[in-house]
Amino acid sequence: MSDIILEVNGLRAWIDTASGPLRAVDGVDFAIRRGETFALVGESGSGKSMTALSIMRLLPEAARLAGGTVMLDGRDLFPLAEKEMRDVRGKRIAMIFQEPGTSLNPVMTVGTQVAEVLLRHLRTSGAEASRRVVELLDSVGLPSPAHRTAEYPFQLSGGMKQRVMIAMALAAEPDLLVADEPTTALDVTIQAQVLDLLRDLQRKRGMAMLLITHDLGIVSKMAHQVGVMYAGRLVEVAARDRFFREPRHPYSRKLFESLPGVAGRSGELAVIPGQVPALTRVFSECRFVDRCESAAPACRQGEPPLLEVASGHVVRCVRTREIGASALGRLSMDAPGTRQGDAHAPPLLQVRGLKLHFPIRKGVLRRTVGQVKAVDGVALDIPAGRTLVEKPPPARPSSSCCTPRPGACNWTGLPWTSCAAASCGAAGAISRSCSRIPMHRSIRACASATYWQRGNWPSVTIRMPGALRVAPPRCLLRWASPRR
Ligand SMILES: Nc1ncnc2c1ncn2[C@@H]1O[C@H](COP(=O)(O)OP(=O)(O)OP(=O)(O)O)[C@@H](O)[C@H]1O
Ligand code: SF4
Ligand SMILES: [Mg+2]
Repeated sequence: MSDIILEVNGLRAWIDTASGPLRAVDGVDFAIRRGETFALVGESGSGKSMTALSIMRLLPEAARLAGGTVMLDGRDLFPLAEKEMRDVRGKRIAMIFQEPGTSLNPVMTVGTQVAEVLLRHLRTSGAEASRRVVELLDSVGLPSPAHRTAEYPFQLSGGMKQRVMIAMALAAEPDLLVADEPTTALDVTIQAQVLDLLRDLQRKRGMAMLLITHDLGIVSKMAHQVGVMYAGRLVEVAARDRFFREPRHPYSRKLFESLPGVAGRSGELAVIPGQVPALTRVFSECRFVDRCESAAPACRQGEPPLLEVASGHVVRCVRTREIGASALGRLSMDAPGTRQGDAHAPPLLQVRGLKLHFPIRKGVLRRTVGQVKAVDGVALDIPAGRTLVEKPPPARPSSSCCTPRPGACNWTGLPWTSCAAASCGAAGAISRSCSRIPMHRSIRACASATYWQRGNWPSVTIRMPGALRVAPPRCLLRWASPRR
């Protein structure tokens, strides 16, 4: 059995437009081995999603496959009848779509949608499928999974929908997972949990993955191979370590220079001037030439081929040997450098007691039997020139809720980790910053109050779901003019 599970050769996907064919994918070649992750990165509009959809044969109506082959385990997918392809999708290759909101069926409960994969591809019995659905939803970090199975996509947040998509994709334990920005709508703790789950599946089952992402941090953790796409073509492919040590294509190098950690905290971020060229153009030169700082007359004499600069490292640049290895600093994933505003400046945005509750209706008469408190008593301030960062809640303390008194704790400016300290710190911060809003004695702050103030991050977020049980009926959201 060959080591290679997916081999893509000369893939072309074109979209017919009024100004001629738009060559979204224009001759893409790569291969993925079993158990490996191939990360596809590149600017918006460079053809990453179209490449993924071509592999799945799920192109939008206006698009067509204009050439190339996609071999899955040695079998060419393009000549397959649609009926055969339906057996391949879900079971052999599954996909996490970039837009889960439009990819879930709006008139089916999420439980039914996940169960459908199990019933169709694994022939699981009804009862076993129901149990497995809850297990899958739990494994992707969906809260109250048993309860959620009966809900419809419109009742879920964007991140929850994305987790349902991930559960569906993993349900039939595919050989290859195509994941198009699978974690963009997730907060960092769930993101880490989902990425761990994917890595675990790879280790146990040898699942291969085509991972599309803009996040080089995720690439550095997950990828074995990296492909950089630009204007419908791959411009660089290398093993992960080599790519991070020595990116060779001028476009790849610019991607690194645009990272906040590389620019330095006070430095300006590098930008790549100009835009991806119109893909309706017929190219007779390097596609990056109008934006490339290293461009020379040779770059306009035809499209550069992929040149091998080291074993398994190919670069589409005629000057790659002259330019040589990157002199970039070590890739850093530090917090972004921010122009520090004045922490004590009056807030530009003030939010107090913000609440958003959804009624839970049951029965024939659809009586309201409860409420989902999506936002419940949020307070925050953003001074002019400052950045507000929300840190996701820590693991939820079980039953240790307390009733902090406002201002009862000193604010030390350090992160609180214990439940009591976190809740008191949050309450104290609220009382200091919201002197006109009286703290209510029924605040249960510690359930998920988070408070984070560090030198690097100049602002504070306080998030308190379920905070105001008997809340004052007020919600104040106002813009305040900065004091002169
Ligand atoms: N349904 C469509 N109709 C017309 N053009 C499309 C359609 N889908 C994509 N395109 C075009 O195809 C090109 C590649 O799009 P694609 O979605 O693959 O980009 P991408 O690299 O995934 O970008 P992003 O990072 O923003 O998701 C773009 O020029 C886009 O405008
Ligand atoms: S071929 Fe020329 S224009 Fe294209 S990336 Fe290389 S140096 Fe830049
Ligand atoms: Mg995309």
